Amino acid sequence: MSEKSPFPLIQTPQFLLRKIVADDLCTIFRGMSDPRVTEYYGISYETLELTQAQLDWFELIYETGTGIWWGICHRDEPQHLIGTCGINEWEQDDHCAEAGFWIFPEYWGKGVMHECLSAMLDYCFTKLSLHRMQSMVEPDNPASWKLIEKLGFQLEGILRECERKGDRYVDLRCYSLLAREWRNRTQPSATIMHLPTST
Ligand SMILES: CC(C)(COP(=O)(O)OP(=O)(O)OC[C@H]1O[C@@H](n2cnc3c(N)ncnc32)[C@H](O)[C@@H]1OP(=O)(O)O)[C@@H](O)C(=O)NCCC(=O)NCCS
Repeated sequence: MSEKSPFPLIQTPQFLLRKIVADDLCTIFRGMSDPRVTEYYGISYETLELTQAQLDWFELIYETGTGIWWGICHRDEPQHLIGTCGINEWEQDDHCAEAGFWIFPEYWGKGVMHECLSAMLDYCFTKLSLHRMQSMVEPDNPASWKLIEKLGFQLEGILRECERKGDRYVDLRCYSLLAREWRNRTQPSATIMHLPTST
């Protein structure tokens, strides 16, 4: 995606998925230094300064067309980030990518991420022409794998001890969702608007 392309905004009934900007640094640091958020997330930061690397990465994947990462806000509070979601490892020739997500614990269990990921998946399958979305989740993180199962992702298998975590190796559950499965889903998604407006 070139620098001239407007960053894609996505609107759901309750939320706005928007570009993550420099002013979000403190909020991203607060999330990515909270052990409740990062326990199964894989990335965490100890200082505000180090967290800048995450914002740089959001910019890099967008500019190189290898991913898009959105900040999640309530529609009436667009400055106030409550979490993030996005895709990386976007292979434009193979039309596949990997999804990731987190929100602050005070918003857990209220259907926020289900609504936001529904919108993100819809955008990726319809506007980006993705064919396959993948997600890797630790077995001890049912909040995540039940969320993606509810969205229609299918378990492909377990990657045994494929990730180093402290002094041990952990398994990862490998999930995928194909475009045709998304199109043929039985559960309706929230009404979604894609707003190709730059911020
Ligand atoms: C995973 C996470 C994003 C879920 O977000 P959320 O907004 O709380 O999820 P939702 O409320 O939309 O839940 C949707 C579905 O997911 C499942 N789910 C969510 N939280 C769950 C929990 N604690 N236990 C079991 N299932 C859960 C349920 O099936 C739920 O549907 P239901 O409410 O109809 O039963 C959130 O827990 C989080 O940010 N965790 C920390 C970061 C993280 O682990 N990221 C993923 C790394 S792979």
